[in-house]
Amino acid sequence: MSTSVAINNKFEVLEAVKLPNPKESIVAVLGLGYVGLPLMVGFADDQRTIGFDIDASKIQDLRNGEDSTDMTTKEDLIKENMDFTCDVNALREADVMMVCVPTPVMQGNKPDYRPVLAASRTIGQNMKRGCVVVYESTVDPGTTENKCVPILEEVSGMREGVDFYVGYSPERVSPGEHARRVGDIAKIVSGSTPAVTDYLAELYSRVVKAGLFKAASIKVAEAAKILENTQRDVNIALINEMMQLFDAMDIKVTDVVAAAGSKWNFHKYFPGLVGGHCISVDPFYLLSAGRGHGLAMEMVSSARQVNERTAHYISDKLHEMLDAESHNLQGKRVLVLGRAFKDNCPDIRNSKAFAVMDSLWTRGADVFSYDPIADDGHFEGGRGAKIINSLEEEGPYDAVVVTAKHDCFVEEIDLFRLASVVGRGAPIVDLRGLFDEKMAKLQFNYWTP
Ligand SMILES: NC(=O)c1ccc[n+]([C@@H]2O[C@H](COP(=O)([O-])OP(=O)(O)OC[C@H]3O[C@@H](n4cnc5c(N)ncnc54)[C@H](O)[C@@H]3O)[C@@H](O)[C@H]2O)c1
Repeated sequence: MSTSVAINNKFEVLEAVKLPNPKESIVAVLGLGYVGLPLMVGFADDQRTIGFDIDASKIQDLRNGEDSTDMTTKEDLIKENMDFTCDVNALREADVMMVCVPTPVMQGNKPDYRPVLAASRTIGQNMKRGCVVVYESTVDPGTTENKCVPILEEVSGMREGVDFYVGYSPERVSPGEHARRVGDIAKIVSGSTPAVTDYLAELYSRVVKAGLFKAASIKVAEAAKILENTQRDVNIALINEMMQLFDAMDIKVTDVVAAAGSKWNFHKYFPGLVGGHCISVDPFYLLSAGRGHGLAMEMVSSARQVNERTAHYISDKLHEMLDAESHNLQGKRVLVLGRAFKDNCPDIRNSKAFAVMDSLWTRGADVFSYDPIADDGHFEGGRGAKIINSLEEEGPYDAVVVTAKHDCFVEEIDLFRLASVVGRGAPIVDLRGLFDEKMAKLQFNYWTP
């Protein structure tokens, strides 16, 4: 493969390095979180893998077979082909490097590219000639080519398309949905040239059995991922807004969705708190890109605002049901079921359950948070909320808010157990439909959207 490159205004034809063999590629994964770890486990079945992370305690846990994200099992982590390391030198033998580091927002909801740029620097310092660098982190279109490639080239002194290659392949795993693992989800691949796209398609097809989609370009693949997540944000915002209107009209939005869902082209969404570091964050990358092009992106922006405000609607609802006459909830004991940002997922980062708890605490309530699956290693502080390890620990409570419908709640907490810690007539604000209308029969003051 030869490529013509302009050097000092003269075109030179350079011999481009050969792409690696997908079957024999040594795979390095940078960032071993919810995305990177299951990906590495998938490849480790029949190729050599190197898992690199800057968090030394995580590397130690993984070497001991412990995964706090609950995305893999102990058996997954003891495969022969896996090395977990903090040592950048280990990356030097990799044929392909997959970047799965966080893409959060900074204050003011501005994109924080620092982890992705730092990972690019690490790769630039340690990649061999012929390496393929593929980004999986969610970014706005143009990030791979305009922000990451210049760093790879500058730090390595090598040239993309001649000495190494890049691609982008967004991750679509959904933590908490254990039935859909990496291999079960169709994957988008894109490369800087059609040959790189083909290489990535062949490589990923060794793990992904649900099909590969070759995107028209890296930018298209970046845009596709961020559109998917923004679409969810907008749709959930619509149903959260409808919940408020229908509630004021004494109509249950879930009954409305069931009825409307009888039409073939109606898409069902249910109210919820949109937190975590994907759906509630990625639209800000799009908004930032929009600003760069003089576009306000009003729909995306107002969806974000509606979803941010939903936590306050839930605490207002509880306040109204618990003591509408009083300006505060002084001395009221409120049990909040769910600290994780979504059902069946231990991740509490950017969980809007904390916004509900903060809002109740600000009104004077004593807030007790119960969530046996939450990974509190990332505890961001719920100000006044006290974490409890059993439902009974601090009962009796004056009210309950449900922010997550974990399987363990469904299995563990029946009406009788709840009745043993919450008095009759107590308000139960059940955002996720953990309980049902039988609650009202048991003389609880039950509300679910
Ligand atoms: N979690 C999801 O559901 C999900 C789904 C699809 C896409 N994504 C996207 O995938 C990316 C990763 O998300 P995640 O949930 O796995 O994040 P995570 O926080 O669970 O894991 C990221 C890991 O990267 C490590 N890290 C940070 N900087 C590093 C660096 N410079 N070099 C090496 N390691 C570094 C961190 O220590 C951490 O272990 C993000 O862009 C996210 O938006 C996430």
